[in-house]
Amino acid sequence: MITVIPGDGIGPEVTGEALLLLDHLDLGIEVDVLDHVNASRFLESGVALSDGDLDRVRSSTATLLGAVGDPRVTDPEYARGVLLRLRFELDLYVNYRPAVLFHDRLSPLRDPARRQIDALIIRENTEGLYAGIGGALRQYTDHEVAVDAEVNTYHGVKRVIDYAFSVARRGVCMVDKSNAVQHGGRLWQRVWKAAAAQHPELATSHLYVDAAAMKLVSDPTAFDVIVTNNSYGDILSDLAAELAGGIGTAASANINGDTGYGLYEPVHGSAPDIAGSGRANPVGAVLTLALLIERLGFAAEAAGIRKAVQSVIDAVRVTPDLGGTLSTSEAGAAIRAAL
Ligand code: NAD
Ligand code: IPM
Ligand code: MN
Repeated sequence: MITVIPGDGIGPEVTGEALLLLDHLDLGIEVDVLDHVNASRFLESGVALSDGDLDRVRSSTATLLGAVGDPRVTDPEYARGVLLRLRFELDLYVNYRPAVLFHDRLSPLRDPARRQIDALIIRENTEGLYAGIGGALRQYTDHEVAVDAEVNTYHGVKRVIDYAFSVARRGVCMVDKSNAVQHGGRLWQRVWKAAAAQHPELATSHLYVDAAAMKLVSDPTAFDVIVTNNSYGDILSDLAAELAGGIGTAASANINGDTGYGLYEPVHGSAPDIAGSGRANPVGAVLTLALLIERLGFAAEAAGIRKAVQSVIDAVRVTPDLGGTLSTSEAGAAIRAAL
């Protein structure tokens, strides 16, 4: 049994296509859909994710999530209450975000030699600026103070760097801002150097985050695995996704590297600007489903999904963001037909 949280905006539209594909594959995986976890319920009752919802997630083998976020909700307690609660309480300490370019024409990069992108961002997912430690003083006055502490623990930094090495194919690049952010910077540097010394078989490098953003644009082919903290990983993964064909194609997995439990979600959000218009690209959600079933042991079927996505992209049987004319449901049907 897997849990499905469609969420808000285009979330239900794209997860709907992923679920039709799962049905089509006929793998015998049952689904438990929590379609009451959304912004409307939060606005009505103040409940983001209830303890009962969390119990259903805990008793499943994996969770597929569409997106959470709604322009009517400005309170960060909503996203924190659903997405970050799941990441933190299930200790999903790795955010695994591949950036793979399926077709040359989808890259915004001018130089064809720079378009062979096959990178993987390993984002620390349970601490950093997202930890929720901080507070405010003298609110609503000219002397207001607002503090969000960036939390870095030895345990948290070590396990995510070790995970990055465990999935590297060619090399690992660690990204931080240790030239300016001193305490966390020193911790990341020390743990990084010790781990790198244990992996002479892999190419290791380090970049400050500003230079990493520049290098991702000037030559994304230089990267295999990038390991970084929570907020830099958030930003660099949208950048990498856009370089590799667009945010609508990017998949991700939030994983506990020890238990193997995963929360799978496309990198994109609820896209309120296109919600309900039929223009949402289902590819990110479909490739996210591929990551999920792969982790459940269906590697051949996951490869089949990626091949089907490759063929619809080659044939331009896709949504407008990828240069096609199909609606969300037509693009989903094209993927199923290609399969
Ligand atoms: P977004 O990713 O939702 O949208 C950014 C841009 O990309 C928009 O122009 C949108 O139309 C486009 N886009 C995104 N997904 C697309 C798809 N599948 N097909 C075609 N175009 C697509 O980011 P945002 O606008 O910053 O955030 C909107 C809401 O989503 C906010 O509430 C935000 O907090 C939330 N959010 C949630 C998640 C998540 O649940 N994992 C992730 C990111 C943002
Ligand atoms: C993501 C999203 C979330 C994040 C938001 C919605 C809290 O942008 O999954 O990348 O910043 O982690
Ligand atoms: Mn993000």
